[in-house]
Amino acid sequence: MESSISHLPRYHHIQILIHWLSALLIIFIIVLPLSRNFWAPLFGGISQVFMLHKSLSVIVFMMTIVRIVVNIKLGVPEVLPANAHLLRLAANSTQKLLYLLLLMLPISGFLMGAKGINFFNIWLIPAMDLSSETMAIAHTSHIWGAYIMIALILLHAVAALFHHYIKKDNVLNSMRMRREG
Ligand code: HEM
Ligand code: HEM
Repeated sequence: MESSISHLPRYHHIQILIHWLSALLIIFIIVLPLSRNFWAPLFGGISQVFMLHKSLSVIVFMMTIVRIVVNIKLGVPEVLPANAHLLRLAANSTQKLLYLLLLMLPISGFLMGAKGINFFNIWLIPAMDLSSETMAIAHTSHIWGAYIMIALILLHAVAALFHHYIKKDNVLNSMRMRREG
């Protein structure tokens, strides 16, 4: 069964690995502050919950830069039919917006705080000396951006599952891990 889809367009292994690793990290990064009181006793207090939120975001930020470079170098497969113009536009816009937020959220998070980022308690990235107005703008953008990202991720995942289980096409398979080369 698997060999029958091997000729269809797929993302490169590196792109697939980065996609699913970032997705896992992003879900954890979002869940941490939203249920901070649940995680606090597990990680040693609210400050440690935010230490993880921020440290993991630094990793996602760097992975996103690598991902953009990889996409430019390797290209991105066209998994939707060439005549599905509206669908392509919707998928591309969602993905571009997700990229924007993957970069914007760590930056706004960094700019809104006065304490900097204590990267896994081993390295302090010092905060910038910004006015309280700038920090307030960054804070508002962070919260709005986070909720827009949650909505987009839900839309994106529902669309992927719709393609796979209802339309039964190649969209989800193009992003699936497979053993053979
Ligand atoms: C991809 C990266 C990030 C995502 C998806 C993200 C997402 C979120 C979400 C969902 C919340 C909860 C909003 C709420 O309570 O209503 C939040 C809050 C927060 N984030 Fe982030 N964040 C990211 C990166 C960062 C970074 C890099 C920092 C700091 C360096 C940061 C600092 C904070 C702080 C301090 C709060 C609490 C804000 C408050 O309760 O007023 N975040 N973030
Ligand atoms: C949780 C956070 C997620 C983020 C931030 C995210 C982001 C992205 C981005 C930016 C792309 C464009 C391709 C690339 O450059 O890698 C993409 C493609 C894709 N994602 Fe996600 N994704 C997430 C979760 C998911 C989930 C949960 C599913 C499945 C249920 C999924 C299924 C797919 C599929 C099938 C593609 C290829 C679609 C196409 O090329 O039209 N993603 N994703």
